Amino acid sequence: MNLFEQQQQEFIRRHIGPGEADTKQMLARVGVSSMDELIDKTLPAAIRLKQDLQTGEPVSEYQYLTELKKTASLNKVFKTYIGKGYYNTIVPSVILRNVFENPGWYTQYTPYQAEIAQGRLESLLNFQTMVSDLTALPIANASLLDEGTAAAEAMAMLFNQKNKNHDHITAPKFFVDDAIFEQTKEVLLTRAQPIGVELVFGDYKTAALDEQYFGSIVQYPNSNGQIEDYKKFIDHAHSVNSFVVMATDLLALTLLTPPGELGADVAIGNTQRLGVPLGFGGPHAAFFATKDDFKRNIPGRIIGVSQDAQGKRCLRMALQTREQHIRREKATSNICTAQALLANMAAMYAVYHGAEGLKNIAKRISLLAQTLSNELAAIGFATANSAYFDTIKVNVEDAARLRELAEKQEINFAYYPGAVSISIDETTSQKDILHIIHVFAAMRNSDTAVAGFDADALLTNIPTALTRTSAFLTHPVFNTHRSESQMMRYIKSLENKDLSLNTSMISLGSCTMKLNAATQLIPVSWPEFNSIHPFAPASQWKGYQQILTELENWLSEITGFAATSLQPNSGAQGEYTGLLTISAYHADRNDKHRNIILIPISAHVTNPASAVMAGFKVVVTKCDEAGNIDLEDLKANALKHKDNLAGLMITYPSTHGVFEESIIDICQFIHDNGGLVYMDGANMNAQVGLTSPGNIGADVCHLNLHKTFAIPHGGGGPGMGPICVNEKLAPYLPGHHTLHNADKAIHAVSAAPFGSASILLISYAYIKMLGAKGLKSSTEYAILNANYMKTRLENDYTILYTGKNGTCAHEFIIDLRPFKQSAGIEAEDVAKRLMDYNFHAPTLSFPVAGTIMIEPTESEDLAELDRFCDAMLSVRAEISAIEDGTSGKVDNVLKNAPHTQLVVMQAEWKHSYSREVAAYPLEYVKQNKFWPSVSRVNNTYGDRNLICTCEPVSAYMEEEVQA
Ligand SMILES: Cc1ncc(COP(=O)(O)O)c(C=O)c1O
Repeated sequence: MNLFEQQQQEFIRRHIGPGEADTKQMLARVGVSSMDELIDKTLPAAIRLKQDLQTGEPVSEYQYLTELKKTASLNKVFKTYIGKGYYNTIVPSVILRNVFENPGWYTQYTPYQAEIAQGRLESLLNFQTMVSDLTALPIANASLLDEGTAAAEAMAMLFNQKNKNHDHITAPKFFVDDAIFEQTKEVLLTRAQPIGVELVFGDYKTAALDEQYFGSIVQYPNSNGQIEDYKKFIDHAHSVNSFVVMATDLLALTLLTPPGELGADVAIGNTQRLGVPLGFGGPHAAFFATKDDFKRNIPGRIIGVSQDAQGKRCLRMALQTREQHIRREKATSNICTAQALLANMAAMYAVYHGAEGLKNIAKRISLLAQTLSNELAAIGFATANSAYFDTIKVNVEDAARLRELAEKQEINFAYYPGAVSISIDETTSQKDILHIIHVFAAMRNSDTAVAGFDADALLTNIPTALTRTSAFLTHPVFNTHRSESQMMRYIKSLENKDLSLNTSMISLGSCTMKLNAATQLIPVSWPEFNSIHPFAPASQWKGYQQILTELENWLSEITGFAATSLQPNSGAQGEYTGLLTISAYHADRNDKHRNIILIPISAHVTNPASAVMAGFKVVVTKCDEAGNIDLEDLKANALKHKDNLAGLMITYPSTHGVFEESIIDICQFIHDNGGLVYMDGANMNAQVGLTSPGNIGADVCHLNLHKTFAIPHGGGGPGMGPICVNEKLAPYLPGHHTLHNADKAIHAVSAAPFGSASILLISYAYIKMLGAKGLKSSTEYAILNANYMKTRLENDYTILYTGKNGTCAHEFIIDLRPFKQSAGIEAEDVAKRLMDYNFHAPTLSFPVAGTIMIEPTESEDLAELDRFCDAMLSVRAEISAIEDGTSGKVDNVLKNAPHTQLVVMQAEWKHSYSREVAAYPLEYVKQNKFWPSVSRVNNTYGDRNLICTCEPVSAYMEEEVQA
């Protein structure tokens, strides 16, 4: 490679951990002479790609950023007053720098290992408290994907609640007020039909509900900006035993009577305007709050308070083994990855501003809206709303002409026949109001714009009857961190409690925690990308258009398919969308009766959950003793159901980390029996450049861009789950009301046309900088790293599955079940002990209970792989000590793990091993110790005593006394 080529390919060696010399050493250890030999031994020849990917040459990081600036300039950032659930906001710089742009926050995994996740758990508890306080509903979850899906989740939860005690559906109807956001209506339409919900649209004022209605949804303030008083409507709904969902705006609720006080059963919405950039549609965290009655049915993650082994207060994800609502085929929701990072940002915004600060922002917005309304009225433009918070709908005789004038001034409004709506936000200044008036004045051929701004004016636009009187955000956390120093330290104190990729590798099988490179992430903060409204005119997002088209083409190429939809904003959402395209395909061929999906028992829980939500019947097929798909059973079921077979959902390489030889045969068999094949793309990191779902014979797959394509996990989101499909399914990809849609497109699955569009930039950068060569190399190294670790560990542990040549794919499973018998040690003990060695546990008990699944990814270097293997071998020696009686079965380093600083430092030490062994079990730990902040968390205590908002300060005081 010459000097110039070297520069062009520099990102490949930044992304891939092992260097040349390390590679040689690792191959030798694995027992192969070259990478090619390893890959030949691992992937069946029949599935290998015959040619290289056509995704271009690699480009350097510098070149990438320079070229991207040019593309970015094709996006035009207008002053935008479109509203409709998305608003400009000021991201406090302290949050931007210390959370959004900080790997200590964005590279975290979902907080399943609570002892090393107390920081983000505390922040998510703040989020829940904020939502609960502002909505005046006692229980809130820690975020959903977007407002549209939150509305659909509410609908599904209430539908199940109302119909659960009946053999057949007695209350199928859901009333949808005309004045909810268009994108919410679209997602409701998508989600209602497959589960048997009948949507009835109308005006809530004239709605005649009866016992057939299980629920309704209204918007507050509504899509016209009008504040309606829903009290009577809610009473009416309750009188016929029906529930009410209020879609709402948390900032507005600082001034308005909250949904809980009006009697609503559920409140949902988007927290974007609380300090999270527009990002052309996302990512942002949606919220979901409800009454206590539904606490065991609420979808998404809930953070709860519990106790650790020392009786000390700590936090954990409540009501979950993995997720309470994803009960395989009995599931009511498939929410897994959500929007944790953005929920944390919104929570931090509330922590920083406090109740007073939020109220002042809301008042300023409302005052400017009122001033604008008055001044426009004075020049002959009447506002249609009698009561409003931030949005006024103004009658104009010629909306097209107004649009022309506004766009000349680089201003966006929302346009309707004979009217225009203007949503004021936190960034709007007095000067901006004059600018708007100026545009309207031009309609009257005037060049004068005047406005009187009275900061003390009464907000007569908010009805007295609906003015909030109750307090909110009274907890000290929302009343302490006002200065930037305080805030910076608060954020840092939480970050310090969490183990992220900037501490050590996180080898979570099936999760692909690879490098999230800084160059990939930087552009997400550029205004040309993060300040675009998702419903801005297409002429203003030509840069995005170019990037998204290129990305779609690359993803189609990588998966071997014909078309891609970038809309689904999580892996599970991708599954759901892909299954809907299968359903639409069969329906289009008059094969509506094809409603059976086969799913092997080893599949991820979201697979059956998504299938049920998409209206399918799930038939679970067996795995053999070794956990491989039982081919005979699969075929027998395909034959048995062949008249009604819709398809098969399969993960490849399998969830056991093996490239099953029979895959082509399986796909063919399903096709022969009239079904289609859905491939779960969670394991694409073992396929890219070597094989592809299309090549194998599948019809559709989703990609977890937050795994394979470098989007960081953010502590449980954001993610993106685009789907790629072959020609058969391409006509049915989801549409959106803001786009030109194909005739057969299914309705939208996300609120925004391209889901969480701004983070697509990360995957775009990943593919661009690695080029075809780097993508393939990444896959090869993912496989090499896994096989190297397997080789180092296989003499001391049982490796559960390997391919026919003894190799694994990009991950492998270690069986810990024998230690229960031999030493009383469970997989959880190993997971917790690894924390003492500075490591996050691999995936625990998935897909096989009592095991751990290790996926190192290509980004980890040899030294880090060795540290992890050393830790695992040292843990094995600790288990041996219990087995041979050198250590006790009850008091040992594993059972007492993790060891906190507090425990190790306490005056009295009663254990049979030393403090040093507890905290510094290997030499490398002494160089850079990461301390778990709490001892082993008691899961059952937390579920029995469910507390999901910040407790009163007295609770902390009692705990101090106890400790
Ligand atoms: C095999 C598999 N399928 C699907 C999913 C769901 O993806 P997401 O969390 O993005 O919804 C996961 C998540 O870990 C997975 O491992």
